[in-house]
Amino acid sequence: MISVAIDGPAGAGKSSLSRKVAEHFGFIYVDTGALYRTVGLMFAQHGADTELNCNIEEILALTKVEMKFVNGEQRVFLNGEDVSEKIRTPEASMMASAVSAKPEVRAFLLEMQREMAKNNNVVMDGRDIGTVVLPNAEIKIYLTASVEDRAKRRYDELIAKGQEVTFQDVCEDMIKRDYNDMNRATAPLKQADDAVLADTTGFRFEDSLNLLINIVEKGIEAIK
Ligand code: DC
Repeated sequence: MISVAIDGPAGAGKSSLSRKVAEHFGFIYVDTGALYRTVGLMFAQHGADTELNCNIEEILALTKVEMKFVNGEQRVFLNGEDVSEKIRTPEASMMASAVSAKPEVRAFLLEMQREMAKNNNVVMDGRDIGTVVLPNAEIKIYLTASVEDRAKRRYDELIAKGQEVTFQDVCEDMIKRDYNDMNRATAPLKQADDAVLADTTGFRFEDSLNLLINIVEKGIEAIK
Protein backbone atom coordinates (compact mmCIF):
# COMPACT_ATOMS: atom_id res chain seq x y z
CA MET A 1 0.00 0.00 0.00
CA ILE A 2 1.15 3.53 -0.74
CA SER A 3 0.32 6.46 1.54
CA VAL A 4 0.55 10.08 0.52
CA ALA A 5 0.43 12.39 3.57
CA ILE A 6 -0.49 16.00 2.90
CA ASP A 7 -0.30 18.38 5.85
CA GLY A 8 -0.51 22.12 6.10
CA PRO A 9 -2.44 25.07 7.54
CA ALA A 10 -6.12 25.81 6.98
CA GLY A 11 -7.11 27.11 3.56
CA ALA A 12 -4.00 25.95 1.71
CA GLY A 13 -6.27 24.07 -0.69
CA LYS A 14 -5.47 20.70 0.91
CA SER A 15 -8.88 19.12 0.49
CA SER A 16 -9.60 20.12 -3.10
CA LEU A 17 -6.05 19.36 -4.22
CA SER A 18 -5.79 16.10 -2.28
CA ARG A 19 -9.08 14.93 -3.76
CA LYS A 20 -7.79 15.60 -7.29
CA VAL A 21 -4.41 13.99 -6.60
CA ALA A 22 -6.20 10.89 -5.27
CA GLU A 23 -8.40 10.78 -8.34
CA HIS A 24 -5.36 11.09 -10.63
CA PHE A 25 -3.59 8.11 -9.04
CA GLY A 26 -6.72 6.07 -8.30
CA PHE A 27 -6.16 6.32 -4.53
CA ILE A 28 -8.76 6.90 -1.81
CA TYR A 29 -8.91 10.44 -0.47
CA VAL A 30 -9.20 10.68 3.32
CA ASP A 31 -10.05 14.09 4.76
CA THR A 32 -9.08 13.83 8.44
CA GLY A 33 -10.21 17.40 9.22
CA ALA A 34 -13.77 16.14 8.73
CA LEU A 35 -13.25 13.76 11.67
CA TYR A 36 -12.21 16.58 14.02
CA ARG A 37 -15.09 18.69 12.73
CA THR A 38 -17.50 15.85 13.53
CA VAL A 39 -16.19 15.55 17.08
CA GLY A 40 -16.39 19.36 17.36
CA LEU A 41 -20.04 19.22 16.30
CA MET A 42 -20.77 16.58 18.95
CA PHE A 43 -19.26 18.82 21.64
CA ALA A 44 -21.24 21.83 20.37
CA GLN A 45 -24.41 19.73 20.52
CA HIS A 46 -23.58 19.01 24.15
CA GLY A 47 -23.42 22.70 24.94
CA ALA A 48 -19.63 23.11 24.84
CA ASP A 49 -18.00 26.24 23.44
CA THR A 50 -14.36 26.57 22.33
CA GLU A 51 -13.23 26.80 25.99
CA LEU A 52 -14.31 23.16 26.37
CA ASN A 53 -15.16 23.43 30.04
CA CYS A 54 -16.82 20.05 29.91
CA ASN A 55 -16.16 16.41 30.67
CA ILE A 56 -14.30 15.37 27.54
CA GLU A 57 -14.16 11.64 28.28
CA GLU A 58 -17.87 11.56 29.06
CA ILE A 59 -18.82 13.17 25.74
CA LEU A 60 -16.36 11.01 23.79
CA ALA A 61 -17.91 7.90 25.32
CA LEU A 62 -21.20 8.92 23.66
CA THR A 63 -19.56 9.73 20.32
CA LYS A 64 -19.49 7.37 17.37
CA VAL A 65 -17.71 8.69 14.29
CA GLU A 66 -17.78 6.74 11.04
CA MET A 67 -16.25 7.42 7.66
CA LYS A 68 -17.96 5.89 4.64
CA PHE A 69 -17.29 6.18 0.95
CA VAL A 70 -20.35 6.78 -1.20
CA ASN A 71 -19.56 6.84 -4.95
CA GLY A 72 -15.93 7.43 -4.03
CA GLU A 73 -16.87 10.48 -1.90
CA GLN A 74 -16.07 10.47 1.80
CA ARG A 75 -19.06 11.03 4.07
CA VAL A 76 -18.83 11.37 7.84
CA PHE A 77 -21.44 10.14 10.29
CA LEU A 78 -22.03 11.21 13.86
CA ASN A 79 -23.96 8.59 15.81
CA GLY A 80 -25.49 7.36 12.57
CA GLU A 81 -26.36 10.78 11.11
CA ASP A 82 -24.62 12.00 7.95
CA VAL A 83 -23.14 15.35 9.07
CA SER A 84 -20.90 15.92 6.01
CA GLU A 85 -22.52 19.28 5.26
CA LYS A 86 -23.23 20.42 8.82
CA ILE A 87 -19.53 20.40 9.69
CA ARG A 88 -18.64 23.03 7.07
CA THR A 89 -19.50 26.23 8.94
CA PRO A 90 -17.07 28.75 10.48
CA GLU A 91 -18.39 27.75 13.95
CA ALA A 92 -17.67 24.09 13.25
CA SER A 93 -14.16 25.08 12.10
CA MET A 94 -13.42 26.79 15.40
CA MET A 95 -14.89 23.90 17.42
CA ALA A 96 -12.78 21.45 15.38
CA SER A 97 -9.66 23.45 16.13
CA ALA A 98 -10.56 23.51 19.85
CA VAL A 99 -11.27 19.78 20.22
CA SER A 100 -8.24 18.87 18.11
CA ALA A 101 -5.95 20.31 20.80
CA LYS A 102 -7.17 17.66 23.26
CA PRO A 103 -4.99 14.54 23.46
CA GLU A 104 -8.07 12.43 24.30
CA VAL A 105 -9.71 13.49 21.04
CA ARG A 106 -6.56 12.82 19.00
CA ALA A 107 -6.22 9.36 20.55
CA PHE A 108 -9.92 8.71 19.88
CA LEU A 109 -9.45 9.30 16.13
CA LEU A 110 -5.98 7.84 15.61
CA GLU A 111 -6.66 4.16 14.92
CA MET A 112 -9.45 4.93 12.49
CA GLN A 113 -7.07 6.94 10.32
CA ARG A 114 -4.32 4.29 10.45
CA GLU A 115 -6.80 1.54 9.57
CA MET A 116 -7.78 3.40 6.39
CA ALA A 117 -4.16 3.57 5.28
CA LYS A 118 -3.51 -0.06 6.17
CA ASN A 119 -6.13 -1.31 3.74
CA ASN A 120 -6.00 1.21 0.89
CA ASN A 121 -3.69 3.34 -1.20
CA VAL A 122 -4.51 6.73 0.28
CA VAL A 123 -4.01 10.42 -0.07
CA MET A 124 -4.67 11.57 3.49
CA ASP A 125 -4.73 15.23 4.43
CA GLY A 126 -4.60 16.88 7.83
CA ARG A 127 -2.14 18.51 10.22
CA ASP A 128 -0.18 15.59 11.69
CA ILE A 129 -0.45 12.87 9.06
CA GLY A 130 3.26 12.85 8.13
CA THR A 131 4.44 13.42 11.70
CA VAL A 132 2.13 11.26 13.85
CA VAL A 133 -0.61 9.32 12.06
CA LEU A 134 1.48 7.85 9.22
CA PRO A 135 5.13 8.58 10.09
CA ASN A 136 6.15 5.92 7.55
CA ALA A 137 4.12 7.35 4.68
CA GLU A 138 6.02 6.84 1.43
CA ILE A 139 5.31 10.38 0.26
CA LYS A 140 4.90 13.44 2.48
CA ILE A 141 3.98 16.93 1.37
CA TYR A 142 3.70 20.10 3.44
CA LEU A 143 1.28 22.31 1.53
CA THR A 144 1.11 25.98 2.40
CA ALA A 145 0.50 29.50 1.03
CA SER A 146 0.44 33.02 2.46
CA VAL A 147 -2.28 33.73 5.03
CA GLU A 148 -3.90 36.29 2.66
CA ASP A 149 -4.10 33.75 -0.16
CA ARG A 150 -5.51 31.12 2.16
CA ALA A 151 -8.11 33.47 3.68
CA LYS A 152 -9.16 34.60 0.20
CA ARG A 153 -9.72 30.98 -0.91
CA ARG A 154 -11.70 30.11 2.19
CA TYR A 155 -13.74 33.33 1.88
CA ASP A 156 -14.63 32.57 -1.77
CA GLU A 157 -15.62 29.01 -0.79
CA LEU A 158 -17.94 30.19 2.00
CA ILE A 159 -19.52 32.91 -0.15
CA ALA A 160 -20.10 30.35 -2.93
CA LYS A 161 -21.96 28.23 -0.36
CA GLY A 162 -24.15 31.22 0.44
CA GLN A 163 -22.72 31.85 3.91
CA GLU A 164 -22.63 35.41 5.21
CA VAL A 165 -19.05 36.17 6.19
CA THR A 166 -16.64 39.08 5.78
CA PHE A 167 -13.11 38.72 4.45
CA GLN A 168 -11.77 40.24 7.66
CA ASP A 169 -13.56 37.68 9.84
CA VAL A 170 -12.29 34.81 7.71
CA CYS A 171 -8.74 36.19 7.86
CA GLU A 172 -8.88 36.62 11.64
CA ASP A 173 -10.30 33.12 12.11
CA MET A 174 -7.51 31.76 9.94
CA ILE A 175 -4.77 33.46 11.97
CA LYS A 176 -6.36 32.23 15.20
CA ARG A 177 -6.68 28.69 13.85
CA ASP A 178 -3.08 28.65 12.55
CA TYR A 179 -1.93 29.72 15.99
CA ASN A 180 -4.01 27.02 17.76
CA ASP A 181 -2.96 24.30 15.33
CA MET A 182 0.76 25.15 15.45
CA ASN A 183 1.05 25.74 19.17
CA ARG A 184 -0.90 22.92 20.78
CA ALA A 185 1.13 20.51 22.90
CA THR A 186 -0.14 17.34 21.20
CA ALA A 187 0.63 16.71 17.53
CA PRO A 188 1.03 20.37 16.51
CA LEU A 189 1.00 21.32 12.86
CA LYS A 190 4.55 21.27 11.56
CA GLN A 191 6.45 20.14 8.50
CA ALA A 192 7.82 16.60 8.89
CA ASP A 193 11.60 16.47 8.40
CA ASP A 194 11.15 14.29 5.34
CA ALA A 195 8.23 16.20 3.79
CA VAL A 196 8.51 18.11 0.52
CA LEU A 197 7.49 21.77 0.93
CA ALA A 198 4.88 22.94 -1.60
CA ASP A 199 4.25 26.70 -1.27
CA THR A 200 1.44 27.65 -3.63
CA THR A 201 1.26 31.40 -2.89
CA GLY A 202 0.05 33.09 -6.08
CA PHE A 203 -0.52 29.75 -7.85
CA ARG A 204 -3.65 28.94 -9.81
CA PHE A 205 -5.40 25.71 -8.85
CA GLU A 206 -4.13 23.86 -11.92
CA ASP A 207 -0.52 24.88 -11.19
CA SER A 208 -0.79 23.69 -7.59
CA LEU A 209 -2.29 20.42 -8.77
CA ASN A 210 0.49 19.85 -11.30
CA LEU A 211 3.09 20.57 -8.63
CA LEU A 212 1.57 17.97 -6.29
CA ILE A 213 1.12 15.36 -9.02
CA ASN A 214 4.76 15.83 -9.91
CA ILE A 215 5.91 15.34 -6.33
CA VAL A 216 3.80 12.18 -5.96
CA GLU A 217 4.99 10.78 -9.31
CA LYS A 218 8.60 11.24 -8.29
CA GLY A 219 7.85 9.66 -4.92
CA ILE A 220 6.24 6.62 -6.54
CA GLU A 221 9.17 6.29 -8.97
CA ALA A 222 11.59 6.37 -6.04
CA ILE A 223 9.97 3.41 -4.27
CA LYS A 224 9.69 1.22 -7.38
O1 DC B 1 -8.61 20.71 7.58
P1 DC B 1 -9.80 21.29 8.34
O2 DC B 1 -9.90 22.78 8.27
O3 DC B 1 -11.09 20.63 7.99
O4 DC B 1 -9.50 20.92 9.89
C1 DC B 1 -10.34 21.33 10.95
C2 DC B 1 -9.53 21.41 12.24
O5 DC B 1 -9.16 20.10 12.65
C3 DC B 1 -8.22 22.21 12.15
O6 DC B 1 -8.32 23.47 12.77
C4 DC B 1 -7.20 21.38 12.86
C5 DC B 1 -7.83 20.06 13.12
N1 DC B 1 -7.13 18.95 12.48
C6 DC B 1 -6.11 18.37 13.19
O7 DC B 1 -5.78 18.83 14.27
N2 DC B 1 -5.46 17.27 12.69
C7 DC B 1 -5.80 16.78 11.50
N3 DC B 1 -5.16 15.71 11.05
C8 DC B 1 -6.83 17.40 10.74
C9 DC B 1 -7.46 18.49 11.25
